[in-house]
Amino acid sequence: MIQKNVSLKEYTTFRIGGPADFFSIVTNEDELIEALNFSKKNKIPFFVLGGGSNLLVADAGYRGIVIKMEMKGVTYEENGNDVKVTAYAGEDWDKFVDETVEKGLYGLENLSYIPGTVGASPVQNVGAYGSEAKDTIDSVYVLDVKNDEYITLSNAECKFAYRDSLFKHNPGRYIVISVAFNLKKKGKLNTGYKDIQEYFTFKKIAEPTLKQVRDAVIEIRQRKLPDIKHYGTAGSFFKNVIVAKSQAQELLERYPEMILHPVNEKKVKIPIAWVLDNLCGFRGVKKGNVGTYKNQALVIINLGNATAAEIIALAQKMVDGVYEKTGIEIEPEVEYVE
Ligand code: EPU
Repeated sequence: MIQKNVSLKEYTTFRIGGPADFFSIVTNEDELIEALNFSKKNKIPFFVLGGGSNLLVADAGYRGIVIKMEMKGVTYEENGNDVKVTAYAGEDWDKFVDETVEKGLYGLENLSYIPGTVGASPVQNVGAYGSEAKDTIDSVYVLDVKNDEYITLSNAECKFAYRDSLFKHNPGRYIVISVAFNLKKKGKLNTGYKDIQEYFTFKKIAEPTLKQVRDAVIEIRQRKLPDIKHYGTAGSFFKNVIVAKSQAQELLERYPEMILHPVNEKKVKIPIAWVLDNLCGFRGVKKGNVGTYKNQALVIINLGNATAAEIIALAQKMVDGVYEKTGIEIEPEVEYVE
């Protein structure tokens, strides 16, 4: 069913945004095709919405059809120690991660408690606490709108990188239907991230279990990031920045206390939260209806009835602040829908 003039506010975790001219909830391939045909016939654009947890919708809303992906289902295929788990795009991400951990399957535990849906995980290549979706994604089953065919893209074909993928470079071309993950019955836990290491040292747990790692990640996220139940937010508003080692070295000479994370021999990742907090004083700021979170300067929050325009104004100040101090042009991680 295609609805008219639906407010998008309640469909985003920022709780911001005007109406979509048209809106359709799709629970299977036929309903998806129907919505796409409507967009074609009326010559209006479409936008596929998952959990709305990484979006900022314009105050004026969207002049097209928003397709809310709600295809559900999870299947398990065992092959020795490997288990291929395929989930439909509309599954809630953390409910899915919880289910795999409860079944004792290794691979997704560090990505616990991330808001959003399974369908968004390959688009964003979601990442946290030393893991990324690309580490376990086997393949992604999509509708290629351009060629009008369903295809399976291998992990390599998805061209994953930090918060980046083939899907991001071809907006509107591929609609994720389901994602297959390679999980393990017996696997290796990744507890190297500083926050996780500190957590287990503090708890005096030398060899944590799979479930304990999930619980640790949930606790750390709850401590560091605003809960979307209480705050309008889309998590990190900007991406971290990867620069050449030489540029990082220059910054380190100017700011010796700066934290840097080596990516490989030549590249270094700069945690922009650190820059925003320690060099620009942007942690826990409040400007009218918007602000940054008290424990995470990279996270912009809606303090009340914020508009998209207010969020953008604060974000621009943050961009300018980082540029002034470091010469780095930061880019939003959150997608703007207009
Ligand atoms: N830091 C500060 N001040 C702050 C926040 C952080 O100095 O206000 C410092 C921390 O002490 C740490 C460094 O900055 O040394 C990095 O902070 P953190 O470990 O919290 O990670 P991040 O780089 O800010 C990224 C992801 C998060 C993810 C965390 C944990 C991006 C854009 N963000 O944040 O993802 O949860 O790592 O792995 O890569 C999201 O995408 O929405 C998100 C929350």
